Amino acid sequence: MKIHYTLLLAGVCLMGVHSAIAVDMAQGAALAKTHNCLACHAIDKKMVGPAYQDVAKKYKGDKEAVNTLVSKVKAGGKGVWGPIPMPANSPKVSDADIKTLVEWVLAN
Ligand code: HEC
Repeated sequence: MKIHYTLLLAGVCLMGVHSAIAVDMAQGAALAKTHNCLACHAIDKKMVGPAYQDVAKKYKGDKEAVNTLVSKVKAGGKGVWGPIPMPANSPKVSDADIKTLVEWVLAN
């Protein structure tokens, strides 16, 4: 019971710290490279997929953007930016990494 409580506290602390940190731009960029997102995307120009800056602009002010885009990056899809589909990235890329990537994309 005591251990349980300590773990719970530790979890709450971690979450608090996490949300206090702004998006880690270096980590996002590194993940995008590791997971080959940059094979189809660039930050400032359209390649196979849209420029990340354009994605950030499109979803600016959209509170649901993170959720929407996490699902999209996981499952893949097409039709928002054109007829070329994005292949599914899950489960190749972990959910946590996808969330970091989406937050990074939106911060560009
Ligand atoms: C094989 C090429 C390819 C790869 C690899 C790829 N993408 Fe995409 N991505 C696309 C295409 C094409 C689109 C446009 C899809 C559309 O029009 O709906 C897209 C769209 C997106 C969008 C915008 C989605 C929307 O609905 O507005 C995000 C965010 C994104 N990609 C992130 C990523 C991330 C993160 C990775 C790496 C884990 C990744 N992509 C890997 C081709 C790719």
